[in-house]
Amino acid sequence: MTGADPGGASHGTGAAGTGVGQVVAEDELAGAPDPAVDPAGWALAAERAVEAVASAEELRSLDPLLLGKRSQLTAARQRLGGLAPEERKAAGGELNRVRQQVEAAVERRRGELVAAERRARVEAERLDLTEPLAAARARSLGATSAACGAGVAVWRQGLVHLVQRTRDQLEDVFVGMGFTVADGPEVETDWYNFEALNMPPAHPARGMFDTFYLDVEPAESVVLRTHTSPVQIRVLQSGRLPVYAVMPGRCFRRETADARHFPVFHQVEGLVVDEGITFGDLAGTIETFTAAYFGPGISARLRPAFFPFTEPSAEFEITCTICHGAGCRTCSGTGWVELGGCGMVDPAVLQAVGVDPERYSGFAFGFGIDRCAQMRYGIPDMRAMFDNDVRVLRQA
Ligand code: DAH
Repeated sequence: MTGADPGGASHGTGAAGTGVGQVVAEDELAGAPDPAVDPAGWALAAERAVEAVASAEELRSLDPLLLGKRSQLTAARQRLGGLAPEERKAAGGELNRVRQQVEAAVERRRGELVAAERRARVEAERLDLTEPLAAARARSLGATSAACGAGVAVWRQGLVHLVQRTRDQLEDVFVGMGFTVADGPEVETDWYNFEALNMPPAHPARGMFDTFYLDVEPAESVVLRTHTSPVQIRVLQSGRLPVYAVMPGRCFRRETADARHFPVFHQVEGLVVDEGITFGDLAGTIETFTAAYFGPGISARLRPAFFPFTEPSAEFEITCTICHGAGCRTCSGTGWVELGGCGMVDPAVLQAVGVDPERYSGFAFGFGIDRCAQMRYGIPDMRAMFDNDVRVLRQA
């Protein structure tokens, strides 16, 4: 034995930081036989010490006593010099063997401890975003009085907002039809929002879009996008053809809020550019989408219209979902409600982004997501969707 005192509190991480596991481990080593005399007995005690530590940190602190400078093993090795050559060889071999055995035990234990610590950390850092509601509040939201009276904590799961839900459903329908989903910025330059879409400065069609400008130089050069159509330009600029994409997002116009308008609203844009695309493809796509999204009994029709970025252009209307075509106040007695605009992409738009209009043709469409939600969930006033009255949010 060496003169070291492996069980003393002066070892390891020091008395204050020494855990119970480490104290037990150091005791094991203090009571271990001299490895020069009983190598197997020492290895057994060393393995018990390794098992006793409770953290990777404790295991690291144990190392000097276990296999390092202050270990019985190192002391025994130092005493080998006093032995006859034959004996030295045998004893040295034996010490190497038990060292390897204990090293393997240390590695195995380290792996276990690191994995357990990682699991504990992940668990501790998990963020629970659900909110437990106190019984009184839960009652006001309609929980049963039995649950509230018993003081039972009531958990209610949050709901996805109607507009977001509608957007998700629209994306699902179009993805099912083979479209990809693309995204663009809500703040756009005048060029993307107007000019590349065939609306040069002072073009009368700009009057359709009452715009918010950003206060940056040069004046009136940057706007909150008034529609999702500029994303068409960005998708075409990426240079990958053919395009079959939908582009949902938030838009802004200087509108006074009323039952059918809101200064912040949502649109979904569609763009198909490929060889040989015709107006028939556009009509078929709108019809397929309408049936898939609104269900049987609701169909679409196109009416001539004008948009600067499509030629020819159309407005598309769907059967009124409130009266199913019979005529009611929502559809002003016509049986139809307008959903959006569409048309064949104007060759000037393709040219603005370097696509050859002789080779490629395409169609585009755009419509209001909020309008879709209104129609699908029968909400007469658009403002209700943004008032945050939970009764509206909960109904769907
Ligand atoms: N961007 C138009 C608007 O907000 C809607 C629209 C019409 C989009 C025709 C289109 C289209 O892609 O082809 O009023």
